[in-house]
Amino acid sequence: MIGKIYGTGSYIPSKVVTNHDLAKVVETNDEWIRERTGIGTRHIAERESTVSMATESAKRAIEMAGIQPEEIDLILVSTISPNTILPCVACEVQKEVGAVHATCFDLNAACTGFLYAYNTAQAYITAEIYKTVLIIGSEALSSIVDWKDRNTCILFGDGAGAVILKAEEKGIFCPYTRSDGGKGQALTCLPGGTIQMNGQLIFRFAVKQVPLCIQELLQEQNISLKEIDYFILHQANKRIVESVAKRLGVTIEKFPMNLQKYGNTSSASIPILLDELNRQGQLKRGMKIVLAGFGAGLSWGASLIEW
Ligand code: ACO
Repeated sequence: MIGKIYGTGSYIPSKVVTNHDLAKVVETNDEWIRERTGIGTRHIAERESTVSMATESAKRAIEMAGIQPEEIDLILVSTISPNTILPCVACEVQKEVGAVHATCFDLNAACTGFLYAYNTAQAYITAEIYKTVLIIGSEALSSIVDWKDRNTCILFGDGAGAVILKAEEKGIFCPYTRSDGGKGQALTCLPGGTIQMNGQLIFRFAVKQVPLCIQELLQEQNISLKEIDYFILHQANKRIVESVAKRLGVTIEKFPMNLQKYGNTSSASIPILLDELNRQGQLKRGMKIVLAGFGAGLSWGASLIEW
């Protein structure tokens, strides 16, 4: 059995913070931020939390999938910004949506988190342990950002995205994941602290490893780059996405982006983008899509899905 995506959902907080707003708080400007990152605005949680955003995105995905919450066997939430250490976000979402039969847990793999959660869900489905899985990436990164640090505060935003996977006889599941704990100091957040980052090291790591892992994933499957309809990358930086496209020799049109609106929402970025494309009618059954994530750990990976 393989999990097929039946529903997607997302939630973006309504409060918008522009680059001009940030220029009033730290020494920066709209031109620098747009040029170096592609980011124009980000949305910040005010009354929302990681749990409430996760719940809302989940409700939208459940509705689209046309299932009852009681049918969900597993809820997996990827986050680095949970409301509380205990209970986990997944159990809180279970309570809110009424998925009374689900097993629930959170997973932390930073910006690769959604990809790892997707792979974990597929592993349970292919092992025929669970049939219907709700996967969510939800982040209130504004709560762990140092708003005085111009190196990081310009990059991040809040939001959540969710998908419903249902077991089917046929489909593709081919994960490619890697981690390098030896370079963990490049991106850290201590308990009660804020995100600290070596931006250049993360940049170099991403533009090198992401194309390599996509190439290796496709080679293993004997699928050419030309056969891929979309490459949905973690939305960290426009220059990273452009560089990956260039290194792969693939037209940038196949790399949809929404980071200009939302900034880097860590594990929420891939499911938010999936949901936007889905609701715009851009994803058609049978399309081949590569998902790729990268981030703290260091961690990175890619997965091929057939829509
Ligand atoms: N506004 C104006 N100037 C700034 C700002 C700012 N917001 N931030 C830094 N600068 C200055 C620096 O101090 C530096 O000045 P100097 O030359 O006088 O020392 C100059 O701009 C250039 O700084 P660089 O760090 O070299 O800028 P770079 O082109 O590398 O861009 C950036 C920085 C945007 C952070 C880039 O390195 C990047 O995007 N890296 C990847 C970050 C990322 O994606 N992190 C998340 C990973 S995913 C996850 O798991 C969370």
